[in-house]
Amino acid sequence: MPPAMPQPVVAKLTRAAIFLVVKVNPEQQNRTAVRTFCSDLPALLRAVGFRDLEGYLSCVMAFGSDVWDRLFGSPRPKELHVFREIHGQHHAVSTPGDILFHIRAARMDLCFELATQIMSRLGDAVSTVDEVHGFNYFDDRDLIGFVDGTESPTGQAGIDAAIIGEEDATFAGGSYVLVQKYLHDLKGWNALSVEDQERIIGRTKLSNVELDDSVKPTSAHNALTTIVEDGKELDIVRDNMPFGDAGKGEFGTYFIGYARSPHRIEQMLINMFVGRPPGNYDRLLDYSRAVTGTLFFVPSATFLENVPVEDTAPAPTEAPAESLQWVRDGSLRIGSLKGEPRK
Ligand code: HEM
Repeated sequence: MPPAMPQPVVAKLTRAAIFLVVKVNPEQQNRTAVRTFCSDLPALLRAVGFRDLEGYLSCVMAFGSDVWDRLFGSPRPKELHVFREIHGQHHAVSTPGDILFHIRAARMDLCFELATQIMSRLGDAVSTVDEVHGFNYFDDRDLIGFVDGTESPTGQAGIDAAIIGEEDATFAGGSYVLVQKYLHDLKGWNALSVEDQERIIGRTKLSNVELDDSVKPTSAHNALTTIVEDGKELDIVRDNMPFGDAGKGEFGTYFIGYARSPHRIEQMLINMFVGRPPGNYDRLLDYSRAVTGTLFFVPSATFLENVPVEDTAPAPTEAPAESLQWVRDGSLRIGSLKGEPRK
């Protein structure tokens, strides 16, 4: 068997992106429509992308834990689960979403056209949960003014960080993706001195140089998101995008992180929200609130092309989804999404 082709997870940073999260409506014909769509996506992408080959249009399609069972049944990707909300110094919420479309291009019109074609093809089979249009802000800065994405691995290093290999051979070529929509308190942030902001991020603002370890606090954003296990640094591929609504005073960063295991993204989040050690948390969160949080699995392009149209999945159950919650001391509690955590 030739190796599975990954989706374009490790794509170049682009000037525009649309993050589209939808839910699959109940009823069997909607699941059939989505399964049929999976193998149609490449043709749709070619149709829109060919109109400007220098626009580098790409699209990643990813699936949430619950909908995976409803659409595809077993086998399941080994580490796919509902995102575990984190209760630390700040709260990382877990919000619903069945399918993520991560659409990237050099021009927003290409992204917009593809999103329109996708939604029109899926029709009543899905309902939109969230749609964010991200733009490139000056020299790859986020709206808090720092260059964002510098240390995200590219090329082979990006593939090594984000694409599943032998550890889950059935799903080799796949990836996990976690999205969080953050809203910034820009007034509060801009009231800080540039030096204080730099100590929070761990890099200089204008020149984007990493602070020396002798002056960088252990709570700096880039310190808490650096994780080393068994002597190896565990990277993720990021492609954050600014978004906003000037009239409403809304200024945000759409965080998107791809990894070959969700564990490494979750560990970074625990370090940020709970702290490493607990209490030594990421001060960026005093000025940035996560209003969404969803984990998806990105199957390989080969998997998508070969999705059978027939319903092979067992009938969906009504049982409440189990959730796991990380709490203030970094320990794990198991509970239901619909109620209080079990002790
Ligand atoms: C409000 C949301 C966020 C903003 C504005 C933000 C911004 C930044 C900036 C400016 C940098 C330094 C430059 C760079 O290497 O990209 C950075 C680094 C980084 N961020 Fe974030 N980030 C956010 C959320 C997150 C989250 C939720 C995670 C992980 C779950 C994360 C993981 C990382 C990693 C791994 C690095 C690189 C660390 C290193 O190796 O130096 N970020 N981020």
